[in-house]
Amino acid sequence: MTATQAPEAAVRSADEAVFSVRNLWKVFGPKADRVPGGEHAALPPAELREATGCTAAVRDVSFDVRKGEVFVVMGLSGSGKSTLVRCLTRLIEPTSGTLAIDGEDVLAMDRSRLRELRRHRAAMVFQHFGLLPHRTVVDNVAYGLEIQGLSKSERRAKAAELVAKVGLAGMEDRRPSQLSGGQQQRVGLARALAVDPSVLLFDEPFSALDPLIRREMQDEVVRLHREEGRTMVFITHDLSEALRLGTRIALMRDGGIVQLGTPEEIVGSPADDYVREFVRDVPREQVLTVATAMRPALAGESERGPAVRPDATVAEAIEAVSRSGDPAARVMDAGRLVGVVDRACLLDVVAGTAEPAVTAPAPDAPDGPREVTA
Ligand SMILES: Nc1ncnc2c1ncn2[C@@H]1O[C@H](COP(=O)(O)OP(=O)(O)O)[C@@H](O)[C@H]1O
Ligand SMILES: [Mg+2]
Repeated sequence: MTATQAPEAAVRSADEAVFSVRNLWKVFGPKADRVPGGEHAALPPAELREATGCTAAVRDVSFDVRKGEVFVVMGLSGSGKSTLVRCLTRLIEPTSGTLAIDGEDVLAMDRSRLRELRRHRAAMVFQHFGLLPHRTVVDNVAYGLEIQGLSKSERRAKAAELVAKVGLAGMEDRRPSQLSGGQQQRVGLARALAVDPSVLLFDEPFSALDPLIRREMQDEVVRLHREEGRTMVFITHDLSEALRLGTRIALMRDGGIVQLGTPEEIVGSPADDYVREFVRDVPREQVLTVATAMRPALAGESERGPAVRPDATVAEAIEAVSRSGDPAARVMDAGRLVGVVDRACLLDVVAGTAEPAVTAPAPDAPDGPREVTA
């Protein structure tokens, strides 16, 4: 937490769970409910299918989505991402496990409570937004507000505000067919935001967009998240998208979560060979931060070198020391010197030869670093 964040953001990033998921299974096939906890539960997918005719699309998954975070679910096609996100609002009925939203048991909800959940609390943004073709942009966005009992003028005013928020001011009266794919996505986003849900669920919404537009939409999500601190669950098969957007990333394989961590943890400390292979080509210096490479400052080091923030990327720090010509950069947090990062160490991160997340002893520890005499 940095001093520059608004108190609002501080509240939202508290360690509260929006979704709380424990030992969740979704098995498709005959006698599906016998699979979790049964003799075949641990079988790999092909053998499970052979033995039971079933597919475990979601397999004993547990996690919390924390208030205010972008929780990314990443994995290859068929790994269970869509099934998992649909289970969250019971668009798909889980086979077993427990599931709560804001502490309320989702599995115990009756139909009207579920409808309420899907409409107002956990709004879903799909790849195909399903806009109403004969309605204008502003009316498409206002659609979600009709069920809330607002007057027509209130709805239009609120919708116009949201249209502007997603960067479509001036296009209020167009119809979906008069918009580009990226613009249609923005309308869908505005429509999901209209009901002011406590969590937004995205299932690969940008997969069909060309790379430039896709990047623009990612920036839009980052900006919305920064401005509103809204909780989001974002599904993607794209690693760079996951790394750009995710506060934390759950990496799925064959229905299970193989690693759950920050982008830095996933790239810097892969849990197994599968994850290692997955992140092999990621430019580490663009994900790992200065905080993972810094060491305590020695006497006399508080004056030299360019200043960088602990959450700056290694790439940014390298640029800073290259520009200044210093052998090291000072790591400053809210005006305070918190450490030093050596150019050589930064380059080791790039080369992959550095151990990330080294926890250096504090300067005042008894066995802490001493002045080195050359
Ligand atoms: N309705 C269904 N019936 C049977 N199998 C399904 C069904 N839906 C999904 N699956 C299977 O579950 C697995 C996970 O699918 P899905 O959740 O769509 O993965 P992803 O979204 O990661 O591509 C796949 O093996 C898929 O074939
Ligand atoms: Mg999918």
